[in-house]
Amino acid sequence: MPSFSLAFVLLFSLSSSCSEHEKSSLFLFLAGLSQDGGLAASWRSSTDCCTWDGIACNANREVIEVSLASRGLEGHISPSLGSLKGLLRLNLSGNSLSGHLPLELMLSSSMVSLDVSFNRLGGGLLELPSSMPGRPLQVLNISSNFFTGSFPSTAWEKTRNLVALGASNNSFTGQVPSSLCISVPLLEELDLSHNQLSGHIPPGLGKCSALRVFRAGYNKITGTLPYQLFDATSLEYLSLSNNGLEGTLDAAHMYKLSNLVFLDLAMAGLSGKIPDSIGQLKKLKELHLEHNNMSGELPTSLSKCTSLTTISLRRNNFQGELTNINFSTLSNLKTLDLYGNNFTGTIPESIHSCSNLTALRLSANEFHGQLSKRIENLKSLTLLSLTDNNFTNITNTLHILKSSRNLKVLLIGLNFRHEVMPQDETMDGFANLQVLGIHNCSLSGKLPIWLSKLTNLKMLLLWNNQLTGPIQSWINTLHSLYNIDISNNSLTGEIPAALMEMPMLQATVAHLDTKYFELPVYQSPEYQYRSFNALPQLLNLSSNDLTGTIPPNIGCQLRSNDGIVKTP
Ligand SMILES: *[C@@H]1O[C@H](CO)[C@@H](O)[C@H](O)[C@H]1NC(C)=O
Ligand SMILES: *[C@@H]1O[C@H](CO)[C@@H](O)[C@H](O)[C@H]1NC(C)=O
Ligand SMILES: *[C@@H]1O[C@H](CO)[C@@H](O)[C@H](O)[C@H]1NC(C)=O
Ligand SMILES: *[C@@H]1O[C@H](CO)[C@@H](O)[C@H](O)[C@H]1NC(C)=O
Ligand SMILES: *[C@@H]1O[C@H](CO)[C@@H](O)[C@H](O)[C@H]1NC(C)=O
Ligand SMILES: *[C@@H]1O[C@H](CO)[C@@H](O)[C@H](O)[C@H]1NC(C)=O
Ligand SMILES: *[C@@H]1O[C@H](CO)[C@@H](O)[C@H](O)[C@H]1NC(C)=O
Ligand SMILES: *[C@@H]1O[C@H](CO)[C@@H](O)[C@H](O)[C@H]1NC(C)=O
Ligand SMILES: *[C@@H]1O[C@H](CO)[C@@H](O)[C@H](O)[C@H]1NC(C)=O
Ligand SMILES: *[C@@H]1O[C@H](CO)[C@@H](O)[C@H](O)[C@H]1NC(C)=O
Ligand SMILES: *[C@@H]1O[C@H](CO)[C@@H](O)[C@H](O)[C@H]1NC(C)=O
Ligand SMILES: *[C@@H]1O[C@H](CO)[C@@H](O)[C@H](O)[C@H]1NC(C)=O
Repeated sequence: MPSFSLAFVLLFSLSSSCSEHEKSSLFLFLAGLSQDGGLAASWRSSTDCCTWDGIACNANREVIEVSLASRGLEGHISPSLGSLKGLLRLNLSGNSLSGHLPLELMLSSSMVSLDVSFNRLGGGLLELPSSMPGRPLQVLNISSNFFTGSFPSTAWEKTRNLVALGASNNSFTGQVPSSLCISVPLLEELDLSHNQLSGHIPPGLGKCSALRVFRAGYNKITGTLPYQLFDATSLEYLSLSNNGLEGTLDAAHMYKLSNLVFLDLAMAGLSGKIPDSIGQLKKLKELHLEHNNMSGELPTSLSKCTSLTTISLRRNNFQGELTNINFSTLSNLKTLDLYGNNFTGTIPESIHSCSNLTALRLSANEFHGQLSKRIENLKSLTLLSLTDNNFTNITNTLHILKSSRNLKVLLIGLNFRHEVMPQDETMDGFANLQVLGIHNCSLSGKLPIWLSKLTNLKMLLLWNNQLTGPIQSWINTLHSLYNIDISNNSLTGEIPAALMEMPMLQATVAHLDTKYFELPVYQSPEYQYRSFNALPQLLNLSSNDLTGTIPPNIGCQLRSNDGIVKTP
């Protein structure tokens, strides 16, 4: 009797164990692994598979979740997982699984979330058969694998419920699918960054009314930003950095993205001005426009983006004075990077009210004037770079900054031309200074004794000055110093024995500080240090008037004009 057997089946499935069929599907998966991360010990045929490591079941003892992220798994993903009829969530992220992603998983009529990110899966992603009914998949994360081939365009018609699609860091070619949000109206997150995608940004993305996150940086996308993109008004996070775009930021449509929190168009190929309408982006926290060819003055309206924490405009052609901007309103600002533009004028007074400012880089512009004592208000300041401007009065500058307790990196070279290195012994402070660059200023005077108090100093750049007199034995109080360039000065006398006792010249220096700089520290436009421990061990004494011999533990004869000692 049919009704009897239905009741029987129900009774059976409400029993205390998962079905043999599900067990055997899981065993097939296990068999496909060459390295099972210890699963076999838990996955025993004598026990209920619902109790196995990484498996979760519903009340009917159907497997609904296989959760095996970061278990050291190697081998293939068996298609058998696709036959787990109640499977809702499969997470195999962070293993070393290889081979293809079985189509059976994408085709599963139950799967809601599939995460195979951070593996070694390869091959192409197939378009799904058009005859197939829609699938319930909501989250698909295939990022950080070795997938190749054209990024599917029509497959998404079968996954109308998709909310998040992560495919970053693969080798997909082809284009951003043009009708994605017609197929997938609920899409909130789309990450296609770090692939080989080309073509234009499809205007159809404007139809993505739910899209909050769109990342397609590090591709080969060309063309302009289509104005329709600004119709995707839910966007909070937009990143198209490192592409080959052209054109300007659309002044007329920008205002629509009023939910934007993060905008990254660095190294994207843009030109033109920052439009006034940026002032409408009241929620904007991070603005990254570095390494473009943008120009003009900064719009006054930027002061209205009061949520801003990061403004990064380095390496563009911006110009004009910063007095346009009322920094008093940008009280959340932590990072301001204007390196390599053509800004002029003095440091605006209003910047001194940004009390949360941690990193301020104004280097390689045409600023001038003296530092204001009010910079002492910037209590959080950790990195200050003024290099390559026309600031004056080094005595004043150092006296102001010496009491900045959080300052770790101070780069002020290529300023103060032909001034005198202050010798004032009251120059104490700089309690936490680790990097000091006062290079290429043609400063005269001696190596000042106040340097001996900077006991946390790791890097000292004084090259291309006109410093005279000897290197004195106090130098060895700088026991953290391991990168010192005092080349091309007019230093005289013998190299003190004390210098040779410095840890930097010992074979092993503990470069323990792995902390990152607030901003990368540039040695040249092409060369940058990102962390303290990246600084190489270096003692450069060349082009001075030093005499005598280098002690034998260094093992090379000092010639009068070529005293470079470099350890690896
Ligand atoms: C998969 O597991 C990893 C590690 O626990 C987790 O970070 C990730 O969010 C999970 N994926 C999904 C879609 O929940
Ligand atoms: C994969 O992407 C989904 C959706 O964005 C996310 O929930 C999940 O945490 C990601 N997985 C990992 C390992 O980050
Ligand atoms: C890209 O994927 C590879 C391979 O999975 C991984 O080692 C690397 O960390 C990923 N890179 C990023 C930026 O996620
Ligand atoms: C950068 O913009 C200027 C005009 O502001 C233009 O003359 C120059 O050709 C542009 N450079 C590049 C590399 O696009
Ligand atoms: C700048 O902003 C501050 C704080 O919002 C305000 O008090 C001040 O009047 C503004 N200054 C100018 C010149 O608009
Ligand atoms: C910088 O600006 C000045 C005047 O504002 C101008 O004369 C100069 O050509 C500009 N330099 C560059 C490299 O754009
Ligand atoms: C900014 O600094 C003020 C104190 O001046 C502090 O109360 C606030 O929490 C800081 N904001 C952030 C975002 O760090
Ligand atoms: C720097 O400023 C001084 C005096 O303020 C001026 O004489 C000099 O020409 C300026 N140098 C440059 C490169 O702008
Ligand atoms: C440099 O600054 C000091 C104060 O620190 C001041 O006494 C001196 O007059 C200034 N020199 C010049 C030339 O402005
Ligand atoms: C040193 O400064 C001079 C101008 O004073 C400049 O021409 C030169 O390029 C600078 N050298 C380096 C290596 O920055
Ligand atoms: C050394 O400094 C002088 C000026 O003091 C400068 O002319 C010369 O170019 C510098 N040498 C090097 C190698 O930078
Ligand atoms: C040492 O200093 C000289 C002169 O300033 C410079 O030419 C040379 O590149 C420096 N060497 C290293 C390794 O930094």
